[in-house]
Amino acid sequence: MSRVMIIGAGGVGGVVTHKCAKVPEVFSEILLASRTIEKCERIRSQLSRPIETAQVDADNTSELAALMKSFSPELVINVALPYQDLTIMDACLETGVDYLDTANYEPPHEAKFCYKWQWDYHDRFKEKNLMALLGCGFDPGVTNIFCAHALKHHFDEIHTIDIVDCNAGDHGHPFATNFNPEINIREITARGKYYENGQWIETDPMAVHRTFDFPEIGPREMYLMYHEELESLAKNIPGVKRIRFWMTFSQEYLTHLRVLQNVGMTRIDPVDYEGTQVVPLKFLKSLLPDPSSLAENYKGKTCIGCVIEGVKDGRVRKYFVYNICDHAQCYREVKAQAISYTTGVPAMIGAMLMLQGKWRGEGVFNVEEFDPDPFMEALNHHGLPWHERFLD
Ligand SMILES: NC(=O)c1ccc[n+]([C@@H]2O[C@H](COP(=O)([O-])OP(=O)(O)OC[C@H]3O[C@@H](n4cnc5c(N)ncnc54)[C@H](OP(=O)(O)O)[C@@H]3O)[C@@H](O)[C@H]2O)c1
Repeated sequence: MSRVMIIGAGGVGGVVTHKCAKVPEVFSEILLASRTIEKCERIRSQLSRPIETAQVDADNTSELAALMKSFSPELVINVALPYQDLTIMDACLETGVDYLDTANYEPPHEAKFCYKWQWDYHDRFKEKNLMALLGCGFDPGVTNIFCAHALKHHFDEIHTIDIVDCNAGDHGHPFATNFNPEINIREITARGKYYENGQWIETDPMAVHRTFDFPEIGPREMYLMYHEELESLAKNIPGVKRIRFWMTFSQEYLTHLRVLQNVGMTRIDPVDYEGTQVVPLKFLKSLLPDPSSLAENYKGKTCIGCVIEGVKDGRVRKYFVYNICDHAQCYREVKAQAISYTTGVPAMIGAMLMLQGKWRGEGVFNVEEFDPDPFMEALNHHGLPWHERFLD
């Protein structure tokens, strides 16, 4: 029986709230807090049990701390934006509350994300006997746990990891992003990067691509990108030689993106428009569909998994572990599309394991540092069943 505070009432926040509400034996009291109270109220109206809601500015540590003191949660689930990670961690330290998120910190004025800022909180969380769990969505999150599961059960050594992420869904819009447009476009317009033999190798954006045959979807073109779990897996999977991340995009999507970039609409620096300072990417976000609004008419499936090569009992093996998620099924269950669903369910599971004491530590951790077994079992029970097969 625990009190949990969820921050962020977007697509992912809606799923986390629905899923926590379905496990009252763990999440006995829930507070959903976000910048726009109407969004919290809309999610509350979809639930069959009462929860509390509150308006909060998560950029403001003292406002957050005051709300935490009045609600007294044991854990905060941060599903606002990466910009708020540090202010929320500061408020957790001030009030003695555990912390969980799904995306690592990035500064608003620089399109750069890395774990250093949050790993630097390790000693402060440890001194206060608190735990922070970082990157507990699907990717990062489940993909890291898939690697820990492979290492525990199928390999003596892991040599290479390829994370493959396909969204074969159709939302009916010519161009839209599946999670926060600002964060998403910053990520996919960045230079590609992967880890090999202890070094980071950079590529031009979307320059490296190949076809992969996704189960239940078929062959799709996927593009090499930098993604945050590469950083923690390079640190936490002993002896790994290469880690890459691949995501599928349609030609239609890439053409829209290229045009937007070419005309300057993805810029994150302010420009003067008739005496007003406007950040083009923020303006673009205001024109694009809200990701949670895509859910109702979304059709098709996602497939996200890890292709892993290494050695077991002296023999080389290649292994694939993955989940398939259906957009329409997610909407029927929690009024969300599959990208929000595949992020929100793992956040709920991570929170549950922390509150049950099954995943416990003092300091700041990534998910692959814990026993993958209870998490893998919970995925099967809470809507994200996984499959595994040996490829050779
Ligand atoms: N690991 C993964 O697999 C994965 C995958 C997808 C997304 N994510 C992460 O999940 C998070 C949520 O994504 P999403 O698609 O749900 O985004 P979203 O729909 O834009 O929702 C973000 C929510 O946070 C709220 N918010 C923003 N700034 C705030 C502030 N200063 N104070 C209080 N609330 C604030 C927003 O409020 P308003 O409604 O007022 O704008 C909105 O309700 C992001 O960090 C994203 O990077 C992780």
